[in-house]
Formats: sequence, C-alpha cells, structure tokens
Amino acid sequence: MADTLTITDNRTGKTYDVAITDGTIKATDLRQLKAVADDPGLMTYDPAFMNTANCRSRITFIDGDKGILEYRGYPIEQLAEHSTYLETAYLIIFGELPTAAQLQTWTNDITLHTMLHENIKKLMEGYQYDAHPMGVFLSTVGAFSTFYPDAKQIFDEQSRRKQIHRLVAKVPTIAAYAYRHSIGRPYNQPDNELSFTGNFLNMLFRMTELKYKSNPVLEKALDVLFILHVDHEQNCSTSAMRNIGSSHVDPYSAMAGAAAALYGPLHGGANEAVLRMLNEIGSVSNVPAFVKRVKAGEGRLMGFGHRIYKSYDPRAKIIKRTADEVFEVTGKNPLLEIAIELERIALQDEYFVSRKLYPNVDFYSGLIYQAMGFPVTMFPVLFAIPRTAGWIAQWEEMLLDPEQKIARPRQIYIGSPKRDYVPLKKRT
Ligand code: SDX
Repeated sequence: MADTLTITDNRTGKTYDVAITDGTIKATDLRQLKAVADDPGLMTYDPAFMNTANCRSRITFIDGDKGILEYRGYPIEQLAEHSTYLETAYLIIFGELPTAAQLQTWTNDITLHTMLHENIKKLMEGYQYDAHPMGVFLSTVGAFSTFYPDAKQIFDEQSRRKQIHRLVAKVPTIAAYAYRHSIGRPYNQPDNELSFTGNFLNMLFRMTELKYKSNPVLEKALDVLFILHVDHEQNCSTSAMRNIGSSHVDPYSAMAGAAAALYGPLHGGANEAVLRMLNEIGSVSNVPAFVKRVKAGEGRLMGFGHRIYKSYDPRAKIIKRTADEVFEVTGKNPLLEIAIELERIALQDEYFVSRKLYPNVDFYSGLIYQAMGFPVTMFPVLFAIPRTAGWIAQWEEMLLDPEQKIARPRQIYIGSPKRDYVPLKKRT
C-alpha cells in the first residue's frame, strides 16, 4: 500500500493523490482541489491548532495516551532522578548530555552571567510594590532587547550563544528581584559559589547572614521541579516563541511574548489558579459541592486536563513524590488533603473520566512552592525560569529550520460583503 491519500472532490468528480509523510499531509497539497477554475483551492480550518503540526522538531517527544515525556530521547523520569536543571538545559539546547568538561564550561558561562545591569534594577524599582511578579518578569525580559542590541544578530551563532547564556543565567535574578521588590527587601547579589538553584534561593531568601545556606532537600526538590518544566513541545507559550521569532526579531522580544502566553491561567498561570481554587474550597468537606459546580459548567478544576495528555501527566507523578520529600522538611501543606480528595473524586467521576481529565503538571507543583515559602503570585515565574531553556531551544531550531518562514496563517472571512462608504450625515 502506498503512503498516499486519494481524495475525491465530489464537487467536480476529480480525484487527487496526496502524499502522507510522518503521519501528515501537507496542507498546501490541498490547494489543487478547486471547485471552479479561479477558486484559490482548499485550505484546512483548525482553530487552536487541535490537529495541525507546525514544525518538525528533535527536542521533546510526548505520547499523550501513554503518558510518555522524553527530552532529546531521555525519559523525564530518568532525568528527574539523575540529572540537574543546568545539565538538562544543556541537553535541551544543544541536543546531547554534556561531557564533564562541557558541563563545567556551561556552568561557568551561566554563573558568570547571573548579574543584572544596574539600570535594569532601576527599571524594576519603578513597579508598584504589589505588581504581579509575572508582569515584572515578562516586561523586564522584553527590556533586555534594549540593553543587548547585539541580540539582533540572530544568524550569528556566537551572538546566539551569548544571549542564551544571558537568558538562562539572568531569569532567576529577575525572578528573585521581582520577589524582593514585592516584599520591600533589598536585592541579594548572586553568589557564584552556589549551585544554580542554591543561588536562586540565596537571592530570594538571604536576610542578614553573610552566606546563605539552603536546605539541601528543598534545593534538590526545586531543581527537580525545574527539570520537569524545561520543555513540552508545541505548547501555547512555545508556539508563541516560534511565531514571534519567525519575524526574525531578537530572542528577548520573542521571549517576552512567550512569557505573556505562559502567564495565562489556562497555561502556566494554572499553578497559581490551583492554589486559589484550593483556598476557595477551604476544606475537604466542601470538595463534593465544588466538584458539583464544576460539572455544572461553573468553572474548571484547575490543574486538571491537558490538550495532549489523555492519561496522567508523567510530571505530576514525579511532583507528587517530590511533595512528600518537601513536606518532610516544611511540614505538610494543609491544602494537600483537599487536593488529594479532589483527585480521588475526579479520577472516579464519569464527568472527568469521560473527558480524560487527569492531574497535570500544575496540580501539585503549587503546593510545593507554597510550602517552600513562595507567594502564589511567584508560581508562574517559577514555571518561566526553567521553560526559558525550552523556549530558547525551540526558537533556535525554528530559526535554523529550512522549512520555516514567517508565520502567517490564513482565515475564513465571514464579515460584511463589499459596501460603499456612508457619509456621517447619512448614518442613522
Ligand atoms: C500547562 O500544552 C502544554 O503542554 C501545556 C503545559 C506545558 O508544559 O507547557 O503542559 C503546561 O499549561 C498545563 C495545563 C494547565 N492548565 C490548567 O490546569 C487549566 C485547567 N485545564 C483546562 O482549562 C484544559 O484542560 C486545558 C486548557 C489544559 C486543555 O484544554 P483543551 O484541550 O482545549 O480541552 P477543552 O477546553 O476543549 O475541554 C474538553 C472538555 C470540555 O468539556 P465539554 O465542553 O466537552 O463538555 O473537557 C472540559 C471542557 O469543559 N474540561 C474541563 C477541564 N479541562 C477541560 N472541565 C473541568 N475542569 C477542567 N480542568
């Protein structure tokens, strides 16, 4: 049997053979199907891209039915167990696990770029104390494009490397400074002797002590959470990064748009929305009534459901295990009981089972962040820090892909037919 699709256009009786490659047909192959000679030809219509591949990628593989997630072929469970965030960021960006020498160089490159330009710190001072840290984050990343105009040399590999080092290294500093500004405390300078995650905790939580010492369990837990959030193929914010980057703008401006997409409560803002939902439910006894309201269509069970995973999100399983380790240190988060009861009910209730709604990466992560002392408004920022590596890797892959060009979808026009201008006096 040939890898082709034979299409009969019943409007003309003509048949067409269209090639099938990698389980897809090229949408542009449909343009030959015309009802009449001057017909522009068939298009596909796919709002929200439910069934449309926009690229070929070597970065992340997901099997939503089997709950499989692999970065460059390595199962997420093995990376969470054995790797670190910085090593995983290297893997996602460069495609291979680093040798010891490569990891040392990569770690030095990142460590030496953690500081922010003094004017960027002044820029951040301009925000109200209660500015949402994700709004501060995305606008500061956008401002980077004015501080590093060399980033416009997007086809110069050395320039791309320098922007990659700056972005991976500086996003934790932006996040920490946004947090410190929101609580009215002075910024903590990065400490180059600490690990990537240890230094992040240092910039967030160091008070008057000269040397910050993080709890190794919490530092490891945060590093695992960072590994789990690095990339997730063509999610909303990553496709925003690719779309914006396809106009050949610099990576900082593209990433400001990606961070804006991640901010939404249906995407990376869901971890914050989960905690607000658990607080609103308030107690285990209120769970049945809340679930009833969700099933009546009055709101969503935040942290549940996924466009691709129609089984348990493999990241949620790892996060749930990590939560137990964190709560050993911090004490159990009282909201955990409510979350566990919500999951118990949802996993057996026909409404959720029929819609294949399982806990996703955001359902338990917020409980850990809160137990570690983060305010809920910091949760999307904690998602954006590791996803920076994924956004950069996808952006560079798009840039170097000969099949890619500026993204410009088509539309079905359903507006008014041609009509003549009506002078103001004649308008009723
Ligand atoms: C992330 O794409 C990625 O990879 C994202 C991410 C990543 O790493 O980048 O994995 C991170 O964003 C995880 C998702 C976090 N968002 C949430 O937890 C918000 C709550 N979840 C939903 O809003 C929803 O499940 C989405 C947005 C995640 C997916 O939405 P879809 O695939 O567009 O599904 P849908 O909205 O078409 O829903 C299908 C049905 C609908 O019911 P019917 O209209 O058919 O009756 O399921 C229902 C929805 O109402 N539904 C839910 C629900 N999610 C879907 N009902 C109750 N609670 C929910 N959470």
